Amino acid sequence: MLLRVLAVGDVVGEGGQDILSRRLHEMKEDLDVHFTVVNGENASGVGVTPRQARGMLDAGADVITLGNHTWNRIQIGDFLDRNDCILRPANYAGRVPGRGMGIYPVKGLRVAVLNLMGRVDLNPNLDSPFKTAGYLLRNGGYDLAVVDFHAEATSEKGAMAWYLDGKVQAVWGTHTHVPTADCQILPQGTGFVTDLGMTGPIRSVLGIKPECSLNLFLGGLPRRYEEAEGNCKINACLFVLDSEKKRCVEARRVDLEE
Ligand SMILES: [Fe+2]
Ligand SMILES: [Fe+2]
Repeated sequence: MLLRVLAVGDVVGEGGQDILSRRLHEMKEDLDVHFTVVNGENASGVGVTPRQARGMLDAGADVITLGNHTWNRIQIGDFLDRNDCILRPANYAGRVPGRGMGIYPVKGLRVAVLNLMGRVDLNPNLDSPFKTAGYLLRNGGYDLAVVDFHAEATSEKGAMAWYLDGKVQAVWGTHTHVPTADCQILPQGTGFVTDLGMTGPIRSVLGIKPECSLNLFLGGLPRRYEEAEGNCKINACLFVLDSEKKRCVEARRVDLEE
């Protein structure tokens, strides 16, 4: 069968959660989506609370993935341990709550979701995301696999996609909050996009008020980042996966703006 997977970019703040709640169900219906993965690491701006995680699941996410802001709202720890539908990067070096990979039943198939985080310009203390991916995917137990690679460097994301080409059916990047226009299917059948983008305020610097970002770059005193206001967007990509051929057969952007 053809499994239609929707991957949604980092949900930022109240605005991001609001547009997700109002529009995701309809978007899934329009695109005939079977399975939805939402990156939720910025629901609180930095981090996500259990209440916000529940909100995104209610909005239509089947699985929430996270990233470098996982521990900014530390109350998520217990929720990560208790709830199978939320993942944090798998390559944290041991001793942290939660899990980085899950296998979910979808339309009679077992779909693995793997959340990884990059080291280049992000967190050099992590275990190698490449070795972690190899290790976790080695045991199988799933029919299809998709990966959210939360990373800063476009090179690291591209290298991961090529490393996993033919081993998983889709790799998408998150974290930069800027959507890239390079949806493609690699030679062994893995669908790939360097970055999904974000779900949140359009007129912003990565979701926050431009003046907050400007203040930083102009050398002002540190101040709390505030979420930008105004119309929001959902940045997302659709991956259509052929479960018999174990290949992605379509990868395209399906962004929505209000
Ligand atoms: Fe991030
Ligand atoms: Fe983010």
